[in-house]
Amino acid sequence: MTDAEELLPIAVDIAREAGELARRRRSEGVAIAATKSTIADIVTEADREVENLIRARLAAVRPDDGFLGEESGAEGGTSGITWVVDPIDGTVNYAYGIPHYAVSIAAVAGDPDPARWAALVGVVYAPAIDELFSAARGTGAWLGTQRLAVVHATDAGALLATGFGYDPATHGPDLERVRRVMPLARDLRRGGSAALDLAYVAAGRLDGYFERGLHPWDHAAGALLVTEAGGLVDGSPDGVPGRQMTIAAGPGLFERLREVIGS
Ligand code: IPD
Ligand code: CA
Repeated sequence: MTDAEELLPIAVDIAREAGELARRRRSEGVAIAATKSTIADIVTEADREVENLIRARLAAVRPDDGFLGEESGAEGGTSGITWVVDPIDGTVNYAYGIPHYAVSIAAVAGDPDPARWAALVGVVYAPAIDELFSAARGTGAWLGTQRLAVVHATDAGALLATGFGYDPATHGPDLERVRRVMPLARDLRRGGSAALDLAYVAAGRLDGYFERGLHPWDHAAGALLVTEAGGLVDGSPDGVPGRQMTIAAGPGLFERLREVIGS
């Protein structure tokens, strides 16, 4: 059994437990705990509680691994494996009661930097609708027991998704990019969870996705889902998904999207 196959059931179990906690807390009512990078960038008590649960569970079963989480930061390990965690991706949806949010858990090997790591495992779990997307390196991407494959866009145009970060200063260039991309599109979605956008590309629910400004925990699990489903993921700088740009699509659309976006 490879490292990835050993780690996958751990990620799946913890994502399910964490998702159930997020769902329960949501049904009890949600309070904004603080704002982060801008006034629109929020964190709820549930984000923190869910991340603490994931961190504690991982520390119990994988004490030598490192951790990198959206809410509680980074801690090095000695095993060469790091868990990259977004406890609730789609926090604004979560706060507004929109069920489109997910727990995202990845295990990566090597330096815990997207430019250097190799993703081993990725799980994206949407607890409100009980959908669990998972991938272990080299063994495909799955929605429950159904194997996933990206789709090839047709002449009718691509169903695309994007996102807009929380900083108003970046909205102008983001909208200009959308304008350039629209000739390729059948329509455009803004779902509100980068992890689910990527999972949906893997599942063929979207033809492609692009966004500026992602953090490692937003794309670590979802990018592996896309590549294990036969898709391509790129970004900048240096072909790495992340802060400047992330692009994900099936092989047919990918190059056209990349050309128009110019990464
Ligand atoms: C955000 C979501 C959103 C994306 C933002 C992310 P959060 O993560 O993934 O779709 O547009 O860039 O920061 O704040 O909900 O964890
Ligand atoms: Ca996130």
